Amino acid sequence: MNLFPAVDPIPLPAPVWLFKALHILTLALHFTAVEMMLGGIIVAAWLNFRGSSNRGAPASSQQLRAAFSIARRLPVVMTFVINLGVPPLLFAQVLYGRALYTSSVLIGLWWISVVVLLTICYWLLYRFAARAEAGKSAWGFGLAAWVLAEVIARIYTSNMTLMLRPGVWNQMYSKSALGVWLPTDDPTITPRWLFMLAGGLTATGLWMIWLAGRKQIESQVRNYLAANGGRLALVMIVAQTVMAFFVFNAQPEAVRAGLAANLVYKTSGFGWLSLAALILGVAAWSALAKPATAFAGWLAASVGFLSIACMTLYRDGIRDLTLGLSNYDVWDRVVVTNWSVVGLFLVLFVIGLGVLGWLISVMVRAKTVSERVTS
Ligand code: HEM
Repeated sequence: MNLFPAVDPIPLPAPVWLFKALHILTLALHFTAVEMMLGGIIVAAWLNFRGSSNRGAPASSQQLRAAFSIARRLPVVMTFVINLGVPPLLFAQVLYGRALYTSSVLIGLWWISVVVLLTICYWLLYRFAARAEAGKSAWGFGLAAWVLAEVIARIYTSNMTLMLRPGVWNQMYSKSALGVWLPTDDPTITPRWLFMLAGGLTATGLWMIWLAGRKQIESQVRNYLAANGGRLALVMIVAQTVMAFFVFNAQPEAVRAGLAANLVYKTSGFGWLSLAALILGVAAWSALAKPATAFAGWLAASVGFLSIACMTLYRDGIRDLTLGLSNYDVWDRVVVTNWSVVGLFLVLFVIGLGVLGWLISVMVRAKTVSERVTS
């Protein structure tokens, strides 16, 4: 029996492989921003807490300044989280709508609450950054923003895993049609969520190494960022690798076998592991030698992004193989390609990415004034 709603009779206007490629690319960009935010908030809050509770101690001023360097960028990172979340959401709806719409309705109250949680989280990030700039104790705002961001991440993980389990949909709907329940009985949810949390701290360690290469930050703070970013990424990439194995082992036997048998998924899995080893090396170098250079920063950023891209591809394999167990084949769609529209879309897409790159480069170059906390 097919447990999914009937397929939309309107054919796809572009080939499945094109939607998939765009989906994975934009989702990797979304995940990069998400990871920076999930880890960045808690690290900045922790540094602000340490700095403001040990005022007068030698490390306190560096901790407060390092906290500010991260906190002041978080509202901008949040902008990227949101804007880079929209494209993969659209592509996911095109490819997996029958599964994703159903699971979204089943957790409807939680799903819609993301808008409210996100708005409050955003406001807290502005308060956090403003207080951190004034050199005040700001960690309470940071901590509250982090809790909300984690709840949002949990809701996303719950939805992205519930969409893979049509077998439980009926039972969930019978329990309540109001969308008030989040699934808790799926063994893949918590490892997957913890993998993203650990990934957030790895990404933030690499981000701190990148920040250490920024000239507008005082040199003592840059050394502090290079050393501590390196230490953080070093520890967290190990923790993340452990979580990756938990995620893998939580999958059904047939999915694990499928991942091992498919060349694309196998390559992205090994690619992720190789990049994890590289991250370990870059992090250890930064922790020990405190390079605080633009080269070290861009090296850290590149290995970080590539590892997230590999993870996104592997994760896509987990989804397709799991859906395959319920006879959902994402490739099995009627396609009537409208090439003129596809061509126009691709031109606009490339222009859009160019504008995004330009915006980031303006941001990177704009602040030549020194970043100092006011007290
Ligand atoms: C604080 C804000 C956000 C956080 C912490 C967050 C976090 C996450 C996490 C952890 C996942 C992966 C879930 C998993 O598969 O285990 C995810 C997936 C996703 N997020 Fe976000 N997200 C946020 C905001 C947004 C927004 C505003 C959008 C869209 C407008 C968005 C779109 C997506 C999409 C489309 C996916 C997955 C799509 C797919 O699997 O194909 N996110 N997000």
